[in-house]
Amino acid sequence: MQDSISFVPTMGALHAGHLELIRRARELSATVLVSIFVNPLQFESAEDFSKYPSDLAGDTAKALAAGATEIWAPTYDEVYPHQIVKVSAGPLGEIFEGRHRVGHFDGMLTIVSRLFDYVKPNYAIFGEKDFQQLSIIKKWVKENGLAIDIVAVPTVRDSDGLALSSRNIQLTPEGRRSALIISRALHGRSREEMHRILATEPNFEVDYAEIIDEETFELALPETKSPRGIIAGWINGVRLIDNMRMGSDL
Ligand code: PAF
Repeated sequence: MQDSISFVPTMGALHAGHLELIRRARELSATVLVSIFVNPLQFESAEDFSKYPSDLAGDTAKALAAGATEIWAPTYDEVYPHQIVKVSAGPLGEIFEGRHRVGHFDGMLTIVSRLFDYVKPNYAIFGEKDFQQLSIIKKWVKENGLAIDIVAVPTVRDSDGLALSSRNIQLTPEGRRSALIISRALHGRSREEMHRILATEPNFEVDYAEIIDEETFELALPETKSPRGIIAGWINGVRLIDNMRMGSDL
């Protein structure tokens, strides 16, 4: 194994999806650093921030068991010791998720750049579940010429197809059943079919459901080589997102 650092930034509330990121990190490096920091800059409302689940002792135990060698849970002042200079996610930060969560991607990129500055990783591991986040980080690392390999890990799903998310525990059992409509719709073959499937679930309030070119985030055309379905919406006040390469199977 190479003498390198693999970094898994998280906001805690670790689930099997995060543990998969840690296992991937472990395949790449002997040193696997997991950070746990709930970044207020990437929440649009104080209420959403305050509802974010937190269990440092439990998260630490899970991360170590999955192969983390160091856990870092910095305080706000450690991460932001000076006046915050926001990093802009650019135009890609303003569409889809960015249009519905104004400022979210600037806040996310600001913390990721701070963490990269401290950790100086060789590899940084992110899940495809947050596909737009992953794309923004890859683009920013490339544009800034950073020597960090951004490693993408496929979304981990429950056996019924629901993408794992720290927000899933906020769902009622009925809400969780309703949430299955998202992965079902992602199996639709067109935008119209996705919307038809989503409309069968009255509990799901759609923010967007589109098929994009995963390289450019432009709406997919029939000739698009790598189309990806992306869906976001609400179930009883819980916001869920998911995405899937079109034509792929769960
Ligand atoms: O994906 C997340 O959990 C967060 O957006 C990240 C990358 C840890 C930044 O706070």
